[in-house]
Amino acid sequence: MRYCVNFDTRNLQPVETDVLVVGSGISGLFAALNLKNSLKVTLISKEGMTTNNSYLAQGGIAIAFDEEDIARHIEDTLKAGSYYNDPTAVKVLVEEGRRNVERLMNYGVTFDQVNGRIDLTREGGHSTNRIIHKKDYTGKAIIDQLIQTVTQRSNIDIYENAFLVDVLTREDKIQGALVIFDQELRWVVTNHIVLATGGIGRIFSRSTNSSISTGDGIAVAHRAGARVEDMEFIQFHPTPLKGEGETFLISEAVRGEGGRLRNAAGETFMDKYHPLGDLAPRDVVSRSILMEQESQGNDDIFIDVTHFEKGVFSKRFPSIYQACLKVGIDPEKNLIPVSPSEHYLMGGIVTDLCAKTSIKGLYSCGESARTGVQGANRLASNSLSEGIVFGYRVARFINQSTEFTTSRDHHGYHRLKELDRDFKGDIAGLKGLMDQSANILRSRERLKSAKEAIRQYDETYLGLHSLDRSFLEFKNMIEVSRLIVTMALERKESLGSHYIEEEQ
Ligand code: SIN
Repeated sequence: MRYCVNFDTRNLQPVETDVLVVGSGISGLFAALNLKNSLKVTLISKEGMTTNNSYLAQGGIAIAFDEEDIARHIEDTLKAGSYYNDPTAVKVLVEEGRRNVERLMNYGVTFDQVNGRIDLTREGGHSTNRIIHKKDYTGKAIIDQLIQTVTQRSNIDIYENAFLVDVLTREDKIQGALVIFDQELRWVVTNHIVLATGGIGRIFSRSTNSSISTGDGIAVAHRAGARVEDMEFIQFHPTPLKGEGETFLISEAVRGEGGRLRNAAGETFMDKYHPLGDLAPRDVVSRSILMEQESQGNDDIFIDVTHFEKGVFSKRFPSIYQACLKVGIDPEKNLIPVSPSEHYLMGGIVTDLCAKTSIKGLYSCGESARTGVQGANRLASNSLSEGIVFGYRVARFINQSTEFTTSRDHHGYHRLKELDRDFKGDIAGLKGLMDQSANILRSRERLKSAKEAIRQYDETYLGLHSLDRSFLEFKNMIEVSRLIVTMALERKESLGSHYIEEEQ
């Protein structure tokens, strides 16, 4: 189906803008802030401005500060990505990181310092300490500051609770978007749209992602005919806190500062699996955990920080410390139980180095984009850097455009039947299916039966119309799940985070 709702633009209230930015994570905010003041920018956020994955980022931003480290950072990124990355995009990411961090700092963002110098920590896959951070709430510190800055810009209109339904195209060019603003479907008239819509975590039962991560931007772009690739590459973080309810991350920086993984018998085990031990790339650590659980016949896995000097952990990782205390674990005395869960999508909407997609006027940056930077598995703390580098690049490209005249060509679609059934149970069903088939260890048989089950969801739901947000999200989740399972089946061999068990 080309569109996911019935509509007629003649009946919709128009909102005119030069640029529509969708998403209030780091890449969306950075893009909006770097667009020139003479452009009228509309920034929409699906819920509140702080409900996004960037806000939850704990670890930090990986930055190479000198020439020597630029070469090493490039190599670490390629190695973690199984050399499936686009080397030119990686070079851009690493070379332009520092300049964009300076831009962040000019907006008032600060990072932790030790003895007057910026403090650098380490995470998995890095050959040296190069991650700048703000304790364990780097994302929150950045986003809070950027929101403060963006709200002061008179050329930027911000709308919360605004849901992108679809983009309007004619002859592969953007001609606007359908957006639900507080329950009302409206027509955003524009010919520049930046999709900074984040990840897909909520198509799984457990994810470190924010509640809004249902892959909307990717589904919207795909329905419009934009190229989407590498959806099979999904990163599972090895160490979210084990337990029911919302999945809280125990940052990899905890291991970067000396935390150790232990099995049910209390033994450290990562040295058996990789020369970097506890700081191996994430795909390796997540798989090693599953192997260790199997060999132990016990699912218990822990992070141990009890050897840290008293007070050090709570000072360096205050949010993690508090989250642990809340569930009755004192990290200074007890092992922290962890269990891998979905964390990050490496694939997405295919973009070039200016964040342009295959549709004229449609751009993507951040997790929704497939820039080629992340390869088959992302190097830790390269996502906030990707957000600022490509957020800046897309703004610079749009700033040079002279095409801001917006056509009010009429668009309409009337092929869908009214939603006539309860779909909520099937959301859980779809998540269960993705847990079974597209997780850390995959099998062709499970992927094939998931593909068939998704085809049935397609048949049941894609032809139905409703403006209910959770139904529209569910349709996007079906679309994205189909892309993941299909691309996983198309890939002939295991690579990076895509791992077919029977072919090892
Ligand atoms: C973490 O803090 O472990 C996550 C950082 C990242 O996803 O890069």
